[in-house]
Amino acid sequence: MAGQQKETGRSHWKSRFGFVLAAAGSAVGLGNIWKFPYITGENGGGLFVLIYLVCILLVGLPIMIAEIMIGRAAQKQPVGAFEELNGGKTIWSAAGWMGVLAGFIILSFYVVVAGWSMDYTLKSIVNFTQPIEKEAAAETDLFIATADMESMQNYLIDKRLADQARMGESLLEREISKRQMDAFARFQAAVSAAEDPEEARRRLLTDEELQQTVTHVEAIQQQMQELRKGIEEQVRADVTGISDETLFRQVRMEKRRELVLAKVGVTFGNLYTNGWQSLMWAFLFMALTVGVVAGGVSAGIERACQILMPTLFALICTMVLYGAFQSGFPAAVSFVFSPDPSRLKPSGVLEALGHAFFTLSLGMGAMMTYGSYQSAKTGLFQEALMITFLDTLIALLACLMIFPITFSYGQEPTAGPGLVFMSMPLAFAEIGTGGMLLSILFFGLLFFAALTSALSLLEVCASYLIDQKDWSRPQAALATGVITLLVAVPSAFDGDPDTLLGTWHADYGKGFFDTVDHLASNWMLPLGGLLIAVYAGWVMPRKLQEAEVKDIPSWMFQGWLFVIRIVAPALVVVVLLQKVGIFDVDELVRRL
Ligand code: TRP
Repeated sequence: MAGQQKETGRSHWKSRFGFVLAAAGSAVGLGNIWKFPYITGENGGGLFVLIYLVCILLVGLPIMIAEIMIGRAAQKQPVGAFEELNGGKTIWSAAGWMGVLAGFIILSFYVVVAGWSMDYTLKSIVNFTQPIEKEAAAETDLFIATADMESMQNYLIDKRLADQARMGESLLEREISKRQMDAFARFQAAVSAAEDPEEARRRLLTDEELQQTVTHVEAIQQQMQELRKGIEEQVRADVTGISDETLFRQVRMEKRRELVLAKVGVTFGNLYTNGWQSLMWAFLFMALTVGVVAGGVSAGIERACQILMPTLFALICTMVLYGAFQSGFPAAVSFVFSPDPSRLKPSGVLEALGHAFFTLSLGMGAMMTYGSYQSAKTGLFQEALMITFLDTLIALLACLMIFPITFSYGQEPTAGPGLVFMSMPLAFAEIGTGGMLLSILFFGLLFFAALTSALSLLEVCASYLIDQKDWSRPQAALATGVITLLVAVPSAFDGDPDTLLGTWHADYGKGFFDTVDHLASNWMLPLGGLLIAVYAGWVMPRKLQEAEVKDIPSWMFQGWLFVIRIVAPALVVVVLLQKVGIFDVDELVRRL
């Protein structure tokens, strides 16, 4: 981070490596480990991941280059940068303003989730999974002691069949598109509502397209039914055929997992529905963030990043390895990597684009601000590439860490914002003693990853006050922190509607938390990114640009220029227009 050299001019990074680490620290955060897995889960996996990767490559990376370029050239935060480069206030300053506003909004829900990570770190230190594990084991023993052979067999059969049914459902979804399913449902409703169903059926099926759909769906349903019968017999035979010892062992494992899953869910629920507790942690986290930013973002953070980032990486790899030996691993890999159009939720494309901005810290001038603390005029493309690569790698690994556990425990991947807090403890409970250590490390590092990102969010707002309004660093940090914390109050009470938000969820269709996240990440960041792309591609004086890319081969610069002028803005515009309802990208993707 920047040192404090007010008298000698603007503060700068100690080294290029320091810049890359701090920028990667900003990029790698809750977005990678908390948000990416849960939105991947909600949006059906594979295809969503693919679209996200395309957005990273065609939109994220070029805009990352643009942001660092503008920041480096102007040596200013977003509001000041456009003024500096244009020699005065222009309409472009609005882009900077929107960035500052988006920063406030994002930070306001960011601190709540970061607060949860602190809560879970403390919980890990008191070994919260141990009593969960103990209770579950005791209840399992009780179940086995009191159940007879037959009910244990039935228990196992039901478990297996539930797993099969879940797989069957996804198979069904793969064979029948959402549109076909809807058409079929409408057809069925019409037939059953008619006075003479047979006649209605015949009449409706004169429509050729509908007839095809109905034949297709009914054939698949038939197949499924036969399959299901076969599977049921198979499972029944399997379970009755195993030895008593194996039966005991398997029932014990399944029952224990079921109980642990429920208890871990309750633990998170207790925190989520307790607004005051969430707020207290958010307050503590904010105090720390303000402290670091006020303290002049010292070499301490730079050094801390150097140790923490590799540790985080090693820990994630360890947990991926653990997952690789779990029964849910194949299902997880196929969930994350096999693109399946039928599972993509409408709005998935906008979500993927929004997240590309969020995870790379783009669209609001964070990378611009960080770039402005750099004096070197070389290495722009390599830096951007490295930051993007690290960020993407960690996001994908986070999915491979979480989903094997999720699937092994029969948890739904659509658990939403609580996913990481409800799936990782399952594994830690099972690992036992070593699990406590891993748990402390995991949530501790999640907390640090959040901190290094939150710093960059606060830094943008604070550096505006410092650069443009001549505030002192501590004053600026404190003021931004206090305001953000006020905005954070409703987010903290998101799960506690009785206290504050009443019918918000019913009125908006999503929680307050999701509402502001959606507004900032999916609208403001892409819009900000669009302005930055247009500015960098069309408006920024060529002379200034060329000064930043002296060491870059001309073809590479030209390639970037093409993408930033045409491809990236076009993609963002198309995706935003679709949300306004001009046309439907999701449908287009599904048909491809
Ligand atoms: N990129 C961070 C994450 O993935 C969050 C973040 C930090 C951010 N600074 C930002 C998001 C600026 C948007 C803009 O957790």
